[in-house]
Amino acid sequence: MLERTFAMIKPDAVKANRIGAILQAIHSRGFEIIGLYLHTLSALDAQMLYREHRGRPYYDRLISFITSGPVVLLVLERDQAVSQFRLFLGATNPAQAEPYTLRAQFGTDIPSNAVHGSDSREAAHREIQLFFKASELYSPHVLTDMDHDRATDTHTAA
Ligand code: CMP
Repeated sequence: MLERTFAMIKPDAVKANRIGAILQAIHSRGFEIIGLYLHTLSALDAQMLYREHRGRPYYDRLISFITSGPVVLLVLERDQAVSQFRLFLGATNPAQAEPYTLRAQFGTDIPSNAVHGSDSREAAHREIQLFFKASELYSPHVLTDMDHDRATDTHTAA
């Protein structure tokens, strides 16, 4: 089923000038890039994005890293986008990621692991809505607002 997921090129990869290479790799893997902008996250943006990590020992380091420079915010579309992008992302630690994955190719360490991707359809729905309005997305597939909700919503998925 056609789905949407949220992805983010992190400050380490932006600073290393890898935006073009990462977008090319994502596109080559069959994902349509249907939303995209460069943005420096505020502390509030970061807290909302990573709310499930609050209280973890690395939380303050994560928030300070992710707000340290511009990121590229993305909405991606393809069949089973959420699970397929997680596979392509690879392990959180780039040293443990499969060689073909984005984190093995572009990441350095934890937390400088180059790219974020939503870990569930529910998270994708929430994360897309945090950063994008429906009018900011361009899909080659014609989706109504209802289709868009279905593409990212766990509860109404077939
Ligand atoms: P991401 O997929 O963006 O989701 C949560 C992030 O927390 C994860 O990637 C890592 O970048 C970060 N993270 C996880 N564990 C640690 C850690 N031990 N120290 C710092 N950051 C971490």
